[in-house]
Order: sequence, then C-alpha cells, then structure tokens
Amino acid sequence: MTSRTKRLRADDAGITQAVTLLQSGALVAFPTETVYGLGADARQGEAVAAIYTAKGRPSFNPLIVHVADATAADRYVEWTPQAKVLAAAFWPGPLTLVLPLRAGHGLSALVTAGLTTVGIRVPAHPVAQALLRALGGPVAAPSANPSGRISPTTADHVHAGLGGRIAAVLDGGPCDVGLESTIIGFDGPRAVLLREGGISAERIEQLIGEAPGTDTGSAITAPGQMTSHYAPRGAVRLNATTARQGEHLLGFGAVEGTLTLSRGGDLAEAAANLFGHLHKLDALGGGIAVAPIPMEGLGRAINDRLRRSAAARY
Ligand code: TXA
Ligand code: MG
Repeated sequence: MTSRTKRLRADDAGITQAVTLLQSGALVAFPTETVYGLGADARQGEAVAAIYTAKGRPSFNPLIVHVADATAADRYVEWTPQAKVLAAAFWPGPLTLVLPLRAGHGLSALVTAGLTTVGIRVPAHPVAQALLRALGGPVAAPSANPSGRISPTTADHVHAGLGGRIAAVLDGGPCDVGLESTIIGFDGPRAVLLREGGISAERIEQLIGEAPGTDTGSAITAPGQMTSHYAPRGAVRLNATTARQGEHLLGFGAVEGTLTLSRGGDLAEAAANLFGHLHKLDALGGGIAVAPIPMEGLGRAINDRLRRSAAARY
C-alpha cells in the first residue's frame, strides 16, 4: 500500500509523472470539471481493483471510463444515433453515456462489473484532458472519496479522504461543476436518464426533442441498484472446495479450480479476474462452484458480488 501520497502540480512534469504512475498500475486522483476522480488504467484489472481497496467500497459498481474525445470512445463502445447527437453537443463535459461494449474493447471486466455496457465520458477539465492525451488510453475513475463520504472538489478534499492510500493527486484547483456527471443510458433507441447531474434533463430534452425516459424498463438498471450486474445462466454455489457433477470449480488460493482467481491468494488479483472467469465458466455450461474467499479487504466486495450472482437464481 502507498505510504505517502504525492501532490503533483498540474504542469507538464506533473502530468508526465501521473502518466508513469498510471502505466505502472498505481492510482492517481485528478480533477475533472465535476469532481475529482480516482483514476486507474482501465485496461489493468489489478489497478482497477485497487480503486475499490482505496475507497473501501464494499461492492463492485461499474465505473465510468474517461477518454480524451469521441474518437477515442469509438474503440470501446457501439454508438446509437441519439448517443452521437448527445456526445456531439455535450462532450467534452459532464455527460456520461452508457453504451454497449464494442468487441475487442480491452477494458478490464472489473470496470464494467461484468456488464455488457460501459459508462463513458469525455471530461472538459484541461488537466483531465492533458492527462488522457498524454496517457493515450482509458482511465477508470469513480469520485475520489472514501466509500460513503462526500465527493471531493479540491485536491485537499482528496488528501483528507484518501491520503496515504493512493500514489498521487494532481492538483488542478477547485472543480467548477461540483456535481457528478449526468448519466444517460439507452433502452433500444430511447434515451433514459440514469442519474441527474451536471447537465439538466431539460437541456437534453431541448436537444433530442423529447424528455429522456426515467423508467428504466427491463433493459437497463439504474445506478446504485445494480443487483443484476451479472447473473450466470447456471447455478452458483459458494464456499465449495470441490465441484459436484455438472459444476465447474472457480478456485482461490489452495483450492485449485477449472479456473482460479488467484493461486497465491491475492485478493486484488482475484478481483481483477472475477468477472472474466465467471463469464468463461458460464460459457462452458453447467453450474459454478466457488472456493471460499476470505472476508477481508477486497474479499468483502468479491463475496458481495458472488452472493448476488448466487442469489439471482432464486
Ligand atoms: O462526474 C462524474 O461522473 C465523476 C467524475 C470522476 O467523472 N465520476 C463518478 O463516478 O461519479 P462514480 O463511480 O461515483 O459513479 C458512476 C456511476 C455509478 O452510479 C454506476 O452505477 C454508473 O455510473 N454506471 C457506470 N457504468 C454503468 C453501466 N454500464 N450501466 C449502468 N450504470 C453505470
Ligand atoms: Mg461517487
């Protein structure tokens, strides 16, 4: 764990250091126009897992992926016509679009919490822009506060909440908007408001000529109520040390399975592998038996997620 959190000035040298840290899998908080984000390279599963450790988040919620512009987003998402209109009008800015993942996207499954969609946004803050352009890659970032605490709008807030738990904070002064981004998902072609935020529903209505839906219907789940992140088709049985007939074993530590979350019992490695391994075992058909995971650190979030996928059956 990081013992001292560097405060980086938002100049060229600071951006370069932040990029080096992100590339090495470390966490860097950075300013956006909404709130400070706690950033990790969205392609590195263990770096993304470290976000949950640092925030003390008890469960895995899907994270927003930040990119420099709409062209960079093309690599990760399938566009709908209305999404294009919204992106053209409000990016860069406080709008997150939840869109289907494109094949070969390369994002860690932990970023999307195993969903087939991803929340993506192009922040307007010049420091966020400089960071994303210098990295040339996607940054997963929730708000940079400990779980359950208020979102940070200054580097001091980040220090007070997460100092000692993350590698660095890029200090870009106070955030303008101070309120998280508006999140829009799509139910087929129809825009659905998933979270109120920095861009009002009225402005979206003016642009697309109709009010975004608020009833999420069957297709999408509202943020914060992500109970059905990922329900495997087969039954999930927890705290297993061997597979029964018709099951595949998902191993951990000394319990070796068809796939194993972490042979060495490393919870960050296990978290990074969790959703990908569940998908792979589910594709084999049959049930999934899961080895015991200790209820400590990230193990709590892993167990929360596993309990939900097991409960989703009944
Ligand atoms: O302004 C913001 O959006 C800030 C800055 C740092 O960009 N970020 C932020 O992230 O607020 P976070 O993790 O606190 O909120 C992300 C929200 C969650 O409520 C999550 O459920 C939703 O986005 N979300 C992300 N991906 C989703 C998906 N594929 N489907 C539905 N909801 C999603
Ligand atoms: Mg938050």
